[in-house]
This record gives sequence, structure tokens and C-alpha cells, in this order.
Amino acid sequence: MMSRNPAPPRQPSPIGYAIIATARALGRWRLELATLTATILIIGNAYTGISPIAQTATLALAAGITAFLITIAVLDRALLAPITAPPRRRLRHARIRRHWQNAAQHAGCTSRVARIEPSPVGEALTIKVTDKTTVKDLDTQAGRIATRLAGHPLATQPKIREVNVNTIRQDPSRARVLLVRRDPFDDPRPVPWPNEHATQLRFDDPIPFAVDIEGRPIPVDLSNGHLLIGGATGAGKSIAFRPLLASAALDPHAQLWLLDGKEIEFTAWAPAATQYSDANLTAAKKLLAALDDEMTGRYQQIKSGAMTAHDFPRIVLAVDEIAIYLNTASTTKQDGSNIKAIAEHMRRIISLGRAARITIIAATQQPDADTIPTQIRNIFTDRFALRCSTSQMSDMILGPWAGKDQGGYDASKIVGQGDDPNLPGGQPGVGYLLTGGRRPRRVRGVFVTNQGVEAIVSRVVGLRLDAGLDGVEASVWGSDA
Ligand SMILES: Nc1ncnc2c1ncn2[C@@H]1O[C@H](COP(=O)(O)OP(=O)(O)OP(=O)(O)O)[C@@H](O)[C@H]1O
Ligand SMILES: [Mg+2]
Repeated sequence: MMSRNPAPPRQPSPIGYAIIATARALGRWRLELATLTATILIIGNAYTGISPIAQTATLALAAGITAFLITIAVLDRALLAPITAPPRRRLRHARIRRHWQNAAQHAGCTSRVARIEPSPVGEALTIKVTDKTTVKDLDTQAGRIATRLAGHPLATQPKIREVNVNTIRQDPSRARVLLVRRDPFDDPRPVPWPNEHATQLRFDDPIPFAVDIEGRPIPVDLSNGHLLIGGATGAGKSIAFRPLLASAALDPHAQLWLLDGKEIEFTAWAPAATQYSDANLTAAKKLLAALDDEMTGRYQQIKSGAMTAHDFPRIVLAVDEIAIYLNTASTTKQDGSNIKAIAEHMRRIISLGRAARITIIAATQQPDADTIPTQIRNIFTDRFALRCSTSQMSDMILGPWAGKDQGGYDASKIVGQGDDPNLPGGQPGVGYLLTGGRRPRRVRGVFVTNQGVEAIVSRVVGLRLDAGLDGVEASVWGSDA
């Protein structure tokens, strides 16, 4: 039997619509209207009151209030702030509520501001979505809402630059929305890495990697994934490797395999690595062939039931400038054949590595399909798009599910100064991080200094010697480099 369609919801009549719309509009201006009405009543009463004494008293009251307001405006705010802050805050919140509702409605979302709290970057709103709007709709429309809100600046407040929608796990009908007025990433001071002085770490634990705009730590968990880091030159790719390399180096049950395409960043880490290759394509091919063999051996042992994946040490393969090893534009025949072999090993390792406890972290300035075949690129579970030169480049790094058309995440909008983000106004280390299956978040990567790297590497070498003295397997500490 065919099920009957549910009856359509009853629509209000045109007059009903007009009443609802008027009531809503009046509701949004309720605080201002109440103040205005009170003022009119006081002044009106002064002229229509019964006794002349009452008239004089009311006029005196109105004059007193006006004088009080003028005094507030003229006197130093700091002196009167404790008295004036609460009413001013109420007025500001009323305007935020009104502007939010306008902007959200304009973007096709119906919602209500349930709460407004201060945040280091502006305001944090608790938004209740109503009718058919979902929190996801709000998120999708965040860019439009932000543009609309930016057109309503409060005189005393910096303009809204970004609207950040976050789900509230316990309540799918509410969202925590940040109205970002100040960009904390304009402050060029680097964010230190909290684990810099650790003596031992586990790579499989979440690694503190970045902070979000409110300064909250954002970890990455690469125990079951691979990370692609992309961005223009000088955006912060090599620095982004540091907390990850340090976590692998300081893990006695992990091995670091390094492909140093740029021959700058990884040389300092080489003493802590199990395998190291520079940009030389033959050397790189050998390293990858060895890793491919290791992976195949692991698969065989896991299949035979002799071992489980967890019996093997974690291998972290880090590749700085993956394009150096995959760029088919090179001319010589030898290079061409090396690149073909490298691409095949990489494809196998990236697609099959996870189940054999192999993690790949690769950085590139050139994420296009000619440089990194799309099928290889798509296997990276986690992405970090630092400042990009074009929005297409940003889309390629973040992947087809998280680019500028899926919520406005566009790393080409990150502020930079040509090739040097350290010039005033640049935001080195800032990018969109896609991790843990969540939407991209704008973050600043932590910063481990050169001295920090040296200290970590010498600590690792010391631990390796100690471990050797204790009879621990030499390969655990990478002595076969
Ligand atoms: N997270 C960060 N916090 C603060 N400063 C940073 C951060 N990341 C990078 N920087 C600054 O930016 C500079 C360039 O960073 P990095 O060498 O990592 O860029 P890159 O993307 O690897 O460049 P290239 O493509 O040329 O290799 C660093 O020397 C550092 O001063
Ligand atoms: Mg670099």
C-alpha cells in the first residue's frame, strides 16, 4: 500500500507574514526601542503631566540623564568603565544579535543567538539553528555571513574578518560560532613546541602540531594516516616537519627514513635517521626500493600470521619537496627511468604503507597532477595547506572535499610578503590544516628553532648510544643509516 504524503505544513496568510516579519524586526531592535520609548515617555510626561511640580521634576530628570550621558562621553572611559560597561555591552550584544540574524537570513539560514561571550579574537556566539537549517548549512554559508557582517562594523569594534562555525558535540542543533575581529596570527611571535625538551615520545600518540586562532593546541595523529604539506616557497613547509620528525626521532620504537629533496632541512636530522638520501635520484630510488622490500616482507609476515603490524617498529618516511623525485620534466634517460621507479615505489608505499605501520609525510611547492599524480595525492589522509600562490594550488593540497568551494578554505588568502613571509605583515607557518577527518582549520604551526633541532638530535644520538650499551637492537635507533 502506498504511504500517504504527510500534510504540508500550514503556511501563514500574507497578513500573518506581515505581522510575523514586523514582530521579528521589532524584536531585534527591542533594547533600542525600549530606551527610546522610555525617553519619549519622560519628555512627553513633562508636557502633559498633571502638576507643574511633576513637569519640572520630570524635565529635571531628563536633563539629569542627558547631563549624565554627556559626562560619560566626555570623561575618561577608564574612570567610568565599571559603571558604563554593562549597559554598553548589552547594547553591543543587541546589535550583534540583530546583525547576525540579518546576515544569517541573507545566507538562507534561520537561527537564533542564544549566548554571546567574549573571546580573545572577538566574540564567541552560541547559535541555535531553527527550522530546516542545520549547523552544516551555517558552516557552508560562513563565508557569506562573514561578508555580510563585515558590512556592519560597530563603531568601536574592529571589523569582522572571519566567521568560524564549530559543532557542539552534545547538541546538533547548536553551534559555537566565532566572530573573528582580530587575527592573532598577525602577531609574528612563533609558537613554541611543548615537547621540545621531552626525552622520549611515542610517534603514535597525537603530536602537538599547531594552535588554532584561539590558541588551543591542535594535534595531528599520524598513527593511521599520511600527511601532505603544501605551500609557496618560504611559507613554512620545512618548519612544519620539525615536531613530526622530532616525535619519530625521540620514539625508540620508530625509524626515520629521510628523502631530502632540498638538501637543507633534513641534513640536521640525518644522525637521528635510519636511512637518509639527498636529492640524488639513484640514491632515492635505492632508499625507496629498500622500504618497498621492507613493506612487502612485513605484509608476508602479517599474512602468514607470524606477526601483527604492531610487532614492527613504526617507519616514518619524510620527503621534503616530493616534486624533486617525481618531476618528469627532467631530461636524461637515466633520470627518467629513476623517476619512473621512484613513482612506482611511492605509489605502492603510500597506498599500502598504512597497514604495515609506515607513515609518509611529504612536502611540496608543486602539488599539481603533473608533479604528484592525483592518485598518489588523494591517498594522503591529512593535509596542511600553507600560504599558496593561487587558490587552485590550495584546492589541490586540501583535496576536492575541502577547498574554497566547500566552505571557502583558501590558502592563497593567507597573508604573505612575496617569497618572504617574515617581512612585516606576513604570516609564516599559518595554513589550513585538515586532520582527523574534520573540516580544515586555520592554524599556526609550532616552531622548533635550529638550536632546538640540534639539541633534540644530540639527545637522540645519546639515547641511541645508551640503548646500544643496554643491548637494545641497533636498528631501533637507526644505526644502519
Ligand atoms: N610555524 C612558524 N612560526 C613562525 N615562523 C615560521 C613558521 N614556519 C616558518 N616560519 C618562518 O618562515 C621561514 C621559512 O620557512 P620554511 O623554510 O619552512 O619555508 P618552506 O616552505 O620550507 O620554504 P621552501 O619552499 O623555500 O623550502 C622560516 O625560516 C621561519 O623563519
Ligand atoms: Mg623548505
